[in-house]
This record gives sequence, structure tokens and C-alpha cells, in this order.
Amino acid sequence: MYLAMNRFTVLTDNAAAFEELWLSRESRLQDMDGFVSFHMLKGPEAEGRILYASHTVWQSEAHFRAWTTSAAFRQAHSGAGQTRQLYEGAPTFEGFESIQEIDALSST
Ligand code: HEM
Repeated sequence: MYLAMNRFTVLTDNAAAFEELWLSRESRLQDMDGFVSFHMLKGPEAEGRILYASHTVWQSEAHFRAWTTSAAFRQAHSGAGQTRQLYEGAPTFEGFESIQEIDALSST
């Protein structure tokens, strides 16, 4: 399992517009090979800013890398230039390889 996370710092005044951008988009993630799940996470607020993180789980890093070179990725980001004023600077990307997994339904 591979987790791709992108963090956005958003002024509280822009939070509603930022959330609407994500909630109204047409996602094609479910069409992608190796896609497992997506969450847009709203984190803590401090000094007038809210931390958001997009959190996408893939079966493997190779599946994630294939998505980043796909037409679906380009399409998902084609409008990103117009919405850059909603968050500060560039988003911060972090990729994680899972080394242990425990979930409620798995037997140990
Ligand atoms: C490797 C780095 C990146 C990852 C892993 C990533 C991840 C994602 C994902 C999973 C989505 C949703 C796609 C969908 O549902 O089909 C998305 C959309 C978006 N990303 Fe990224 N992204 C990356 C780079 C960037 C960069 C550099 C920016 C800013 C310049 C950005 C800004 C956005 C925005 C604003 C959207 C919403 C698009 C819209 O509907 O207009 N992303 N990204």
C-alpha cells in the first residue's frame, strides 16, 4: 500500500471556497488502476489558517506514479492555476510506503 499526501495551508476566509472546489470537482480516481481510496482531510486551525491534506491510497507506488503521468492527472490539475490564490504557496507533497497494516476486519 502507498499513501500520497498533499498538504494545503488555507486562510480561514478562503476555507469555504477551497472546500467547494474539492466537493464540486469531477473525480476520475475511481477509473484508475490501483486506486484504493481518497479523503480530503480538514485539520487544525492556527493563526487564521487551516491545514488541509488530500490523502490518496494506492495499491503500490507504481500505481500512483502511473496516475501522475496520466491524462486523468493532467485533467484534474488543469484548473489548479486559477485556484492558487485559495491557498498559500505550493502544496507540500509527501509519499508514504506502508510497512504495517492493521484494520478492523482483518484477522491477526
Ligand atoms: C505529486 C503531487 C500531487 C498529488 C499527489 C496531487 C493529488 C491530487 C488528487 C488526488 C486530486 C484529486 C483528483 C481527482 O479526484 O480526480 C488533485 C486535485 C487537485 N490538485 Fe493536486 N496533486 C499534486 C500536485 C498538485 C499541485 C502542485 C497543485 C497546485 C499547484 C495541486 C492542486 C490541486 C487542486 C487545486 C486540485 C483540485 C482540482 C480541481 O478540481 O480544480 N496539486 N490533486
